Amino acid sequence: MTFTNDQFRLDGKVAIVTGAGGRGNSIGRAYAFGLSNAGAKVVIADLNADGAKVVADEINAAGGNAVPVQVDVANEASTLAMARAAEAAFGGVDILINNAALMVDISYDNIETISLEAWNRAFAVNLNGALLCSRAVIPSMRQRGGGRIVNQTSGGAFPAIGLYGISKLALVGLTTTLAKQFGKENITCNAIAPGNVTSDAGKMLVPDDSPFIKFLEMTVATKPRGAPDELVGAALLLCSEAGKWITGQVIHVDGGWVMRP
Ligand SMILES: NC(=O)c1ccc[n+]([C@@H]2O[C@H](COP(=O)([O-])OP(=O)(O)OC[C@H]3O[C@@H](n4cnc5c(N)ncnc54)[C@H](O)[C@@H]3O)[C@@H](O)[C@H]2O)c1
Repeated sequence: MTFTNDQFRLDGKVAIVTGAGGRGNSIGRAYAFGLSNAGAKVVIADLNADGAKVVADEINAAGGNAVPVQVDVANEASTLAMARAAEAAFGGVDILINNAALMVDISYDNIETISLEAWNRAFAVNLNGALLCSRAVIPSMRQRGGGRIVNQTSGGAFPAIGLYGISKLALVGLTTTLAKQFGKENITCNAIAPGNVTSDAGKMLVPDDSPFIKFLEMTVATKPRGAPDELVGAALLLCSEAGKWITGQVIHVDGGWVMRP
């Protein structure tokens, strides 16, 4: 079969993007718009119900087809309800982007003093959340003949320094495990590892005058920071027919910060 650009289209597909309804300019919002512009119907899933509605309304106003769903990805019953809501709205699920995470609201305490409560909460959201959301939608993907799962990891996991990076590195283990276990069922699972992104949350964590920006300027091969939109191309590849033979991979979208031979 000859390759055509149509293989990037997602017409008729149903996608869930978790963490797409939070802080205004977010990566999840950019993913949701990107998938919608490629033709997918989109479920905007977030703990923040009002934020999810705002993004769904924006997508619908732009001519897309989106519904908001409140979900706590760390709660199994809530993830199952999210999957049921997607099925009720659009008939099933083909694509899941596990993007929800604690990043700003996570403990950056020293590993010697960090509380176990903070540790467990981070893993409950950043790792277990992706597990629970994946398990909630895999039956629907299987029924529809396959699916695509994308886990949002981070350049901060390479190497992991501190709780955030550790939780994101663990997510890579979940990614390869899901890829191995469900590959024969035409369900792929990959991860995107962004560098420093100018989402509202990213700017809260790393303000423009942060010394970390100076460090990145010296380290990153191209520009040190990217906008949420600059991650969308990788997501479209991994979610579409064009990327069907890619699984178990981490795609670094970071201007050349983390380079792995
Ligand atoms: N911004 C960056 O520089 C950067 C870099 C690398 C990776 N990332 C990752 O990209 C993703 C999005 O980041 P962002 O910058 O858009 O941040 P963000 O804080 O705007 O997005 C995170 C979203 O997750 C939601 N969320 C938190 N806990 C939840 C829960 N229990 N259930 C459901 N939703 C929940 C929040 O409401 C929020 O909408 C995160 O996974 C983050 O770790 C961000």
